[in-house]
Amino acid sequence: MKNIKRILSLILTLPLALSAGCAGSSTVNESNATTGSSAAVTETSGSSETTPSEQNSGITESNVPESNILVVYFSRTGEQYTVGVIDKGNTAIVAEMIAEETGADMFEIMPADDHYPMTYDELTEVALTEQGENARPEYAGEVPDLAQYDTIFIGAPVWWSDWPMIMYTFFESNSDSLAGKKLIPFSTHEGSGLSGFDKKLAAVCPDSTILDGLAVRGNDCQNKQEDVRYNVKEWLSALGY
Ligand SMILES: Cc1cc2nc3c(=O)[nH]c(=O)nc-3n(C[C@H](O)[C@H](O)[C@H](O)COP(=O)(O)O)c2cc1C
Repeated sequence: MKNIKRILSLILTLPLALSAGCAGSSTVNESNATTGSSAAVTETSGSSETTPSEQNSGITESNVPESNILVVYFSRTGEQYTVGVIDKGNTAIVAEMIAEETGADMFEIMPADDHYPMTYDELTEVALTEQGENARPEYAGEVPDLAQYDTIFIGAPVWWSDWPMIMYTFFESNSDSLAGKKLIPFSTHEGSGLSGFDKKLAAVCPDSTILDGLAVRGNDCQNKQEDVRYNVKEWLSALGY
């Protein structure tokens, strides 16, 4: 137990020490090696023109097509590192901002059996065990029909320098449907940044195009939301959204 804490605290503090010389915001827009083109995205929204008969009849119902952007995320409430007990997860806060800024739909990955403890120390142990076993914890609920989306933002907290194992369950169960799509990773963390989320995602979804990800300090999600939103908007804008 003491060893676990020591190792995790090393993981958390080492990147902090390395980045201590960098001034400014702690939200990192990682310029990652991507596996595909990061060219600006061309939106493929359908026509919202009204027919003459609709115009004449004064129909005002929105003809806006469903979004072709989805945000998939995993996030925990309860006790979290540096922020105490929270009732909205750090990654959930970023996921909502992305959805608000892009009009995206959202899908939250929830464990099928809620086996993740609400206390930080216990959660780190369960997560480490899952990683050691290369587990594929099941998630609950129906994934929306991915065929309607061409861009999927995918976010999670960094757990032990990696995606939480439950995210690999999602990637692997949906790798066929994710093929050919633009996938955009984002993390929340307390020192590890994006922690290779992009490369790990590319390895599991080799037929998808991975665009530049965003890493956000978890504490900022709770305590510096205006800064986080600003950085989210800048990142989206650089990606063409
Ligand atoms: C099990 C566990 C492992 C973690 N491992 C790391 C890590 O390796 N590097 C890091 O920077 N932060 C690590 N953290 C901190 C979380 O990434 C950070 O608090 C995150 O913002 C939590 O997001 P959430 O509220 O959406 O779950 C870890 C937290 C937990 C619970």
